[in-house]
Order: sequence, then C-alpha cells, then structure tokens
Amino acid sequence: MDQLIGNKKIKTAVFISGTGSNLKNLIDFSINKKSPISINLIISDNKNAIGLKYGKIFNIKKKVVNYKSKDIAEKKIFLELKKNNINFICLAGYMRILSKNFLKSFKGKIINIHPSLLPKYKGLNTHKRAIKKNEKISGCTVHYVTPKLDSGKIILQKKVVIKKNDTEKSLAKRILIQENKLYSKAILKIFNP
Ligand code: GRF
Repeated sequence: MDQLIGNKKIKTAVFISGTGSNLKNLIDFSINKKSPISINLIISDNKNAIGLKYGKIFNIKKKVVNYKSKDIAEKKIFLELKKNNINFICLAGYMRILSKNFLKSFKGKIINIHPSLLPKYKGLNTHKRAIKKNEKISGCTVHYVTPKLDSGKIILQKKVVIKKNDTEKSLAKRILIQENKLYSKAILKIFNP
C-alpha cells in the first residue's frame, strides 16, 4: 500500500446505500491533517440514500448508479472512479456485491466495514443471528474485499458486549457507534502500520 502514498492524500471513494453514518465519520477523519486519505467521490446505488446529503454539505462529488444491469452499473462506476483518479475505495453500508472483474481492477484497494466479528456472521442480519445464537459478544470488522463475501483479510475489529435485554435494534445502534470509530483507525493502520 506504501506505493499509494505521495505528498498528497490518497484519493478515495466511499460507496453507500443508506444513512451514511460511516461515510460522515470518514469525511470528518479525512479532513484531519493526519488522515492519509481524502474523500473525493461518493457512489450510491440508491438515489434516496440519506448519506448522499453529505456530498452537498461537504462539497464532495456524488454519483448515483442505476443497478438494473449490474454489468453496466459497474462499468459506469469504473469510469467515474478513473475520471476522478480514485485510488482507494471504502464500502460503507453498500448493499451490492461487486463482481470479481471489478474487484480485480482495484485489487487490495477496497475495504469494507461489517457489523459482526468476522469470520462469524457473514452476510446480512448479523445482529439478529448473533442474539438468536445467544452470543455474549459481537462487534464489527474492517476487512479487505475479495470475491468471497466478507472473507478478505481482517484489518481491525472491535468487540461489543451483547446485553441480556438487547434487541436487534439496540445492539445495531451500539455496534454502529463503534463502527464509526473503527473505520478511520483501520485506515490509519493500513497506511501507517
Ligand atoms: C453498518 O452497520 C454497516 O456495517 C452495514 O450497514 C450499516 C451502514 O450504516 N453494512 P451507515 O449507512 O454507515 O450509517
């Protein structure tokens, strides 16, 4: 990853589908002098994603991509990334699985945040499944994205205790607070190991 670092910050795109709390925290982080990345582009597959508002607030370019055809969507995304000289990608609540082909063109440069302690509870409904299994601890993970879902090398994790009376919603809320802190720490770890 060192080869990415010059005098300038690494041009980064954040992919979102929803609220964008992780995006907001990444933007706050990127503005800091210590951040190795700058956020130059927001990609969304959902034109109604609340997180898109941060594009306007922080004057960051955004692109909404229609996913009727995944192939065409990914081609459009790829062109947009190239046009903006993007060199690093953070998936933050992006509800689409990127194809092998797409991942190949950004090998080792795409990371994701997942709301469980991977390798446990890959995929969706992580909190519901963790509670159902009577887990005592869950958490969140930042990892590299590879063709196998939620299985790339782990960069950083944070544990969160599951309380006796936790619901899916209450647990998700507590874990999201930790996700918001963990993402930038993971990026620092990548670029300043
Ligand atoms: C987070 O819990 C993330 O881990 C999951 O979707 C949620 C997105 O939250 N994949 P936000 O849009 O960043 O607020």
